[in-house]
Amino acid sequence: MRTVLYPGSFDPLTNGHLDLIDRAVKLFDKVLVAVAVNSDKSPLFSMDERVQLIKEVCAHYHKVEVVSFTGLLVEAVVMYQADAVLRGLRAFSDFEYELQMAFMNRSLNKNCETIFMMPNERNSYVSSRMVKEVARLGGNFAQYVPERVKDAIQKKLTAGEVS
Ligand code: PNS
Repeated sequence: MRTVLYPGSFDPLTNGHLDLIDRAVKLFDKVLVAVAVNSDKSPLFSMDERVQLIKEVCAHYHKVEVVSFTGLLVEAVVMYQADAVLRGLRAFSDFEYELQMAFMNRSLNKNCETIFMMPNERNSYVSSRMVKEVARLGGNFAQYVPERVKDAIQKKLTAGEVS
């Protein structure tokens, strides 16, 4: 049984993330979406909210499990017995950071392999950060996120929590 761990901040899950999950379920027996507690960022959605949103959006994928992790990614890989880490490459600009991260993870654990996949071109410019910015500035962000995530962002906007 082949398990891939797909880590990220997912603040929030976008159509780009979903595109990658959809591709991964076709290649792996199990896809573990691993939501990171990233101390560098002050997230719009709490850890529990992010996990819950992904669970709801991915409910129809029987191969997908959603987990959270703190600390090092390589430790999560060992804990969840994943065979590889999955990361998305949207543009050339992603590559340098992703390559560094993959090398660092493999230097921390020589068995930690990283697999890169590309989303559909129409999702290649979509990022959580930009979705939040478009939402905050009153633009139409619905086309970049799943319906359930759109509703959740809308709720945060109404509550004045998107700053
Ligand atoms: O969605 P993101 O913000 O690009 O995800 C980045 C993430 C969470 C995958 C990365 O920051 C991470 O792996 N954090 C865990 C801490 C860690 O292991 N750092 C050392 C490897 S660079």
